[in-house]
Amino acid sequence: MIDFKKEVANSILQVVKDLNEEEIESLIEIPPNYDMGDYAFPCFRLAKTFRKAPNIIAEELSKKIEIGDYFEKIENVGPYINFFISKAKLTETVLESIAEEKEKFGSTNIGKNRTVLVEFSSPNIAKPFHIGHIRTTVIGNAIEKVFKFQGFKTVRLNHLGDYGTQFGMLIAAYKKWGDMKVIEEDPINELLKLYVKFNEEAEKDESLRDEARHWFKELENGNEEALELWQWIRDISLKEFNKVYDLLNIQYDSYAGESFYSDKMPRVIEELEEKGLLKESQGASIVDLEPYGMPPALIKKSDGSTLYITRDIAAAIYRKEHYDFYKNIYVVASQQNLHFKQWIKVIDLMGYDWAYDCVHIPFGMVSLEDGTLSTRQGRVVFLEDVLNKAIESTKKIIEDRNPDLENKEEVAKQVGVGAIVFQELFNNRIKDYVFSWERTLSFEGETGPYVQYTHARANSLLEKGEFKLEDEVDYRFLKEEDEINLIRLLYNFPKAVLDALEKYEPSFVTRHIVEVAKAFNKFYNSCPILSAEEGLKKARLNLVYAAKTVIKTGLSLLGIEAPNKM
Ligand code: ARG
Repeated sequence: MIDFKKEVANSILQVVKDLNEEEIESLIEIPPNYDMGDYAFPCFRLAKTFRKAPNIIAEELSKKIEIGDYFEKIENVGPYINFFISKAKLTETVLESIAEEKEKFGSTNIGKNRTVLVEFSSPNIAKPFHIGHIRTTVIGNAIEKVFKFQGFKTVRLNHLGDYGTQFGMLIAAYKKWGDMKVIEEDPINELLKLYVKFNEEAEKDESLRDEARHWFKELENGNEEALELWQWIRDISLKEFNKVYDLLNIQYDSYAGESFYSDKMPRVIEELEEKGLLKESQGASIVDLEPYGMPPALIKKSDGSTLYITRDIAAAIYRKEHYDFYKNIYVVASQQNLHFKQWIKVIDLMGYDWAYDCVHIPFGMVSLEDGTLSTRQGRVVFLEDVLNKAIESTKKIIEDRNPDLENKEEVAKQVGVGAIVFQELFNNRIKDYVFSWERTLSFEGETGPYVQYTHARANSLLEKGEFKLEDEVDYRFLKEEDEINLIRLLYNFPKAVLDALEKYEPSFVTRHIVEVAKAFNKFYNSCPILSAEEGLKKARLNLVYAAKTVIKTGLSLLGIEAPNKM
């Protein structure tokens, strides 16, 4: 596809000698609306060398620049040189590229097959998989897809919280009050009850905490009973989590969770010791981070048991050795900002030059209308319930509006789940938000179903118009404003994907495809397609195909399906 920004830079380069191409490109701006052109070059920087006022420079240069094939107009407004892209060239390059690259349109090979690890979701075993987990799950999923689309070799990791003192608690509680049959029936809820009960009882009787510590120690020492219980709890929990992953169509390359690193910790502790980083503090071992303005990293407790942070350090070292990653990405809530800063600093202090290839991608908090989520107090909304309710509401809507639809069940799942995922990926990831059933189940406005529906509409047009990609098309037929606006958005899709990659921000893609869908519907309403005369009809169907393709690719990068009919 023609890179018009580069062409702007080239034109400037012909008439300005003391800036290089890169400098020029970095100065090029996108005007606030198309009446002012597609690109603008501000002349302030040239004032010194030209020894003239910027608006005079702009005026003189805009006359000097040769217009060539790529632009239809170059004019100056004040200190700016505005470039208007040739609509014919734009249309041709966009529609030809999409016809040629199809679902790969927007992909590149900037990754050069380098390995990127994306760790996401990572719920805690025996705890509810709740609405708070949706963010890491769907943001991580989308980030992985975007990296893969740009030519990286990606590995999807689920760092399960399957280790730590809470397992001591669970084992102790199970041994006191647990009933295997009851738990098997409804694992997470029953385990949660045990966990809550244990915490309540421990408020009254401190000695319970010692029991929990004892059982965790036993687990670390490989006590058979403890191991068996732990394995059982892990298995039944994972089975529950997989229900959600199945609904979301998410798979992993590895579920190596915290427990996987339990035998890799002695080495890390030794290494920290050898490198002189470990300090005694009240019987515990810490890495002092005061010089870096952070509280110490607590590596080993006084009873010898290791901690969450120790496992993260061990995991990062293991991952580097095992995968030799180019980047090791963690999609984890912003509440853990300090935790990540701390352990990445420890890796740095250990002398690993790849420390900062470990990147923490934080996101904001989800709270409930009646306060924060709290597992201990049992104030949670299960993710599975949210997804299932969304599927149910979608089913009702389908029954109402399109009862004869084929594969109703499948489409209801794709649209219901898509609605939740889309909403989740619509806003900047760092923003906090309050979960509301009402908003979640309303499909009006800029939503997943709206975009999916647009895709289905495009598909039906292509079917009715018996569209064939191989047909000869004359793109010059396309000149209506609503056509050109849609084409501009398609042209900018690859850029939106790259922005999403660079900023680890899937919402660039989400928002872009909403704009594409809106522009498509505007075009659909103002330009007759199937009833147009032959040449125009062909060109318009090509545009429909291009829009459908981009919407589908965009949705798939977000982990959302695009049914052909709905
Ligand atoms: N299991 C943790 C939690 O639910 C998240 C794990 C994040 N990943 C990590 N490598 N620390 O809070």
